[in-house]
Amino acid sequence: MLDEITRTGRQFDSALASANTAREIDEVRVHYFGRKGGLIPALFARLKEVPKEQKKEIGDALNKLRDRIESALKEKSERIASEEATRKEARETLDVTLPGRAPRLGHLHPITIVRRELEEIFVEMGYSLDPGPEVETDWYNFGALNFTPDHPARDMQDTFFLDVDQLLLRTHTSNVQIRSMERFKPPLRVLSCGRVYRRDEITMRKSPVFHQAEGFLVDKGIHIGHLRATLEQFIKRLFGADLAMRMRPSYFPFTEPSAEVDMSCVFCRGKGCNTCSQTGWMEILGSGMIHPQVLRNVGIDPDEWSGFAFGFGIDRAAMIKFDIPNIRTLFENDLRVLQQF
Ligand code: PHE
Repeated sequence: MLDEITRTGRQFDSALASANTAREIDEVRVHYFGRKGGLIPALFARLKEVPKEQKKEIGDALNKLRDRIESALKEKSERIASEEATRKEARETLDVTLPGRAPRLGHLHPITIVRRELEEIFVEMGYSLDPGPEVETDWYNFGALNFTPDHPARDMQDTFFLDVDQLLLRTHTSNVQIRSMERFKPPLRVLSCGRVYRRDEITMRKSPVFHQAEGFLVDKGIHIGHLRATLEQFIKRLFGADLAMRMRPSYFPFTEPSAEVDMSCVFCRGKGCNTCSQTGWMEILGSGMIHPQVLRNVGIDPDEWSGFAFGFGIDRAAMIKFDIPNIRTLFENDLRVLQQF
């Protein structure tokens, strides 16, 4: 039996050596001290059968083995627990000297940059913002704006008609003139920025979806001088104080008189270059005094009130401001392009 005790001791040593986690050590503990089938209790049980004269020697050896195993198990499990604690602490320690991880910041799209600038300029002049709906009825997009059903001016705005309820995608932001004037009583100052749609051919400068800004003002005694001063202010703020502007007679069914507005070419500052076909001018917006019939259509008395309106291409402004030659560049969402602005 003494041999057996020695053997059990050796087996224990190698079992403990290969136990490296708290769980493995526990398994070893159960193997030697478990209530059911634990090796040490089994050896003690057999002491009864040992002849009297050997009892003391074997009993001593057994006690020694039990104490050794107990303290070895305790020692190793404490060591492993403290190693584990050190590792955990290392994982959770905050190293304040590490460089920070910078969040990836997004970018404003060039169209948004120009839109916000426009909004800022007009809000400072007392305008309210109203984007208006993109899906519209014929009345708000055309009828109330004085386009009769077969008016040739409709041809300038090739329209996407929807299959449902005779709706269409607005061809300009002028629908907001009607919607705002219906809802609110004058005096009124409104800027409306948003998407518009036309079945235009696709070219460098034209896309079937683009963005307009519509501004209009209705008050007492408003005349074309107010329109001119307002436009001049806004052009100088958006593109530069040194730029000149001019108005040329034009035609829109919903303004009378109507004017096309040019500003000095931003590339040559008016000297003449290829971009402006050597004229020194760039056409940038349509405008005019709101037609008395349009005011009547929304229940405003044109003898009491008058106003002006203008429509401006935001995409075109962004192209001019950031020197982008192709309008599609604005819609392709190529980060290499967008990150430049
Ligand atoms: N709505 C016109 C267009 O799309 C522009 C315009 C707006 C002209 C307001 C006059 C007044 O071309």
